[in-house]
Amino acid sequence: MIIATTIQEVRAQVAAWRKEGLTVGLVPTMGYLHEGHASLVDRAVSMCDRVVASDFVNPTQFAPNEDLDSYPRDFDHDCALLEEHGCHMVFYPAVSELYAPDAATYVEIQSDMPKQLCGKTRPTHFKGVCTVVSKLFNIVQPDKAFFGQKDAQQLAIIRRMVRELSYGIEIIGCPIVREADGLAKSSRNTYLNPDQRKAALVLSQAVALGQRLAAEGETSAAKLVGAMTDHIGREPLARIDYVSAVDGVTMEPVDTIKPGVLVAMAVYFDKTRLIDNFTVEG
Ligand code: PAF
Repeated sequence: MIIATTIQEVRAQVAAWRKEGLTVGLVPTMGYLHEGHASLVDRAVSMCDRVVASDFVNPTQFAPNEDLDSYPRDFDHDCALLEEHGCHMVFYPAVSELYAPDAATYVEIQSDMPKQLCGKTRPTHFKGVCTVVSKLFNIVQPDKAFFGQKDAQQLAIIRRMVRELSYGIEIIGCPIVREADGLAKSSRNTYLNPDQRKAALVLSQAVALGQRLAAEGETSAAKLVGAMTDHIGREPLARIDYVSAVDGVTMEPVDTIKPGVLVAMAVYFDKTRLIDNFTVEG
């Protein structure tokens, strides 16, 4: 696997692949990779001739009070996992490679979409995500890019950005990967102490409860969200940020549960904020 740290190296390698007529997939990550990321790489390898993963903890998507400095990092482990899953190149830039000290250009969806759900407590987050993903798209110019459904709002926002900025890139959403006991895989799970790790199961339990109620025909978003909220509320270590039902494309709140509705939540365990979700099936 090639390790590239500069934009120039990535561009030269992708150009060489393009000359051979090969297709290129991009898996953007912030490193500290787990099986969720591995599933994105597997999907990319199955759909593209060459796969590039980026490994970059993007400062612009963290607010000053968030965990940028403590965000877990382990590049050697990341390389081993990527190599094992058939990734061809990892792009591992320094912050200075992607952001000039006076960088002042951002990509932002100027609608309510990034202000819903996670945007309520992380108002600048999606501006940073769109900016870095847009830069990665410009650097790698992939045919396809792969994102996890766990970050459902991020996925919807990136789909919209790609559509509205006319990127000729196909966005592939990949299913949530869970631990054996149901907890969605996340690099931030590593912050949980044993009691919090146990308590964090309320997220996947709430997902299962919501899915069951939807399958049984519950159409009231208030009732379904209420039942999930009550379940999480019974766990003393959990502090709910939000549990919401929104349109799966626009992220606008909905009153009625029907196919395509996204039911998403964010819950704190002390300072650790975890997310989970499901989309109502047809
Ligand atoms: O989902 C993530 O890990 C990040 O938000 C992304 C898409 C790699 C951008 O930094």
